[in-house]
Amino acid sequence: MPITQKEAPIAQAPILKQQFGTGFKWGVSAAAFQTEGTWNEDGKGPSVWDTFTARRGKIYKAHNASIACDFYHRYKQDLDIMQSLAIPNFRFSTAWSRILPMGKGRPNTKGIGFYDRLIDSCLQRDITPWITLYHWDLPQALEDQGGWRNRSVLGWLEDYAALCAKQFGDRVKHWMVLNEPMAFTGVGYFLGIHAPGRRGLSNFLPAMHHAALSQAAGGRVLKSLMPQAEVGSTFSYSHIEPYRHIVRDEQAALRMDALLNRTFLEPALGLGYPVQQLPLLKRIEKYMQPDDENLLAFDFDFLGLQTYTREVVKHSFFTPYVFASLVKAAKRGVSSTDMGWEVYPPSIYHAIKRFAAYPNAPKIYITENGAAFPDQPSAHGVHDIERTAFLQNYLCQVLRAKKEGAPVQGYFVWTFTDNFEWAEGYRPRFGLVHVDFSTQVRVIKDSGYWYRDFLKS
Ligand code: GAL
Repeated sequence: MPITQKEAPIAQAPILKQQFGTGFKWGVSAAAFQTEGTWNEDGKGPSVWDTFTARRGKIYKAHNASIACDFYHRYKQDLDIMQSLAIPNFRFSTAWSRILPMGKGRPNTKGIGFYDRLIDSCLQRDITPWITLYHWDLPQALEDQGGWRNRSVLGWLEDYAALCAKQFGDRVKHWMVLNEPMAFTGVGYFLGIHAPGRRGLSNFLPAMHHAALSQAAGGRVLKSLMPQAEVGSTFSYSHIEPYRHIVRDEQAALRMDALLNRTFLEPALGLGYPVQQLPLLKRIEKYMQPDDENLLAFDFDFLGLQTYTREVVKHSFFTPYVFASLVKAAKRGVSSTDMGWEVYPPSIYHAIKRFAAYPNAPKIYITENGAAFPDQPSAHGVHDIERTAFLQNYLCQVLRAKKEGAPVQGYFVWTFTDNFEWAEGYRPRFGLVHVDFSTQVRVIKDSGYWYRDFLKS
């Protein structure tokens, strides 16, 4: 029997903040490229995404992020809204090429000044800033030298991390090295759908290995310069199930799971690459240097878990390397978001349980979870019932995992304002706050008010 929705995604009872305990961290997440705009002012250098969005045919309706949410100029207004919604933690990323226009060498004081003001403005509003060092916007100058395919990226990232720690470490106590390395290496260096638009194993494998080394190397730099700070990195994770309970689909699901979910997490935890399940990864040997096995590991203070959906996988003879393909939600006839991702609340429960099952796993923060739906703004606001239900139902499952003893200690909604959704442009809207991209007018959606009431409950 092919898999369809099995566990009912209905919130049984209203969920309350108190049920998660007092130390639980609540917040929202965002990223520099998706919100800031102002791509070439105040000394900023171009990033791979600035270059990629200028290429024909790469982005939905040729959208670009040169203005995006204009967060570079409107951050105070947005933080005022965040404060009005009682949101206590804000995870954002620093744009590497705003701080180091060439990726290395001379820092840009105006770029650093922007993040200084942003951090101070958060603190003035009792909002705790959380920094992700790298959310996919590699300086173009570094890509021109091979980018993630060049092992020198380790040193470039270490220097950038050290600079940020020295500049902002007096005020920022929560840090993440990379945002979803599987996504930016897989989609950017294997499929070519994201920046820098490269394809194939000869690009993907070195990029992947250097990103895996960098996530640990960046962690070491941050921790050595800020021993009191909490240092983590973030990982994409989708709960995976076989389409049919037949050996071929079950094996395919295991291979896809190894690729999507374990490739970056397990080396970081000191377990090495999952080569047994995915022999393809043996080819990384070509890029390995003597001490790399050890260098891949780092004792992070937390794992940032970013999860949205479940993937259902079947054997596919025509998909090279993994011989597995995803069976889309539409084909399975299950409810899905505007990204075509299945709405399946138990997926977050399974994800947390899986992370928690690693013997040496540290605490877990859900650093991204949320949903895009086609919102209909009216004179009376944005009644995004589906998003509100999505958040409630997923939170019920977070609580379920927590009650069973999983060390999950935080939850950040992706995302605060609607923003530039990579290759999908401005079409999918994930925000708690609606943005009219032609006027930059913000309207708090019903989900935003629901989050406020929940946080105040
Ligand atoms: C994540 C990514 C975010 C955002 C989100 C929704 O993978 O980190 O930048 O785009 O997905 O698609």
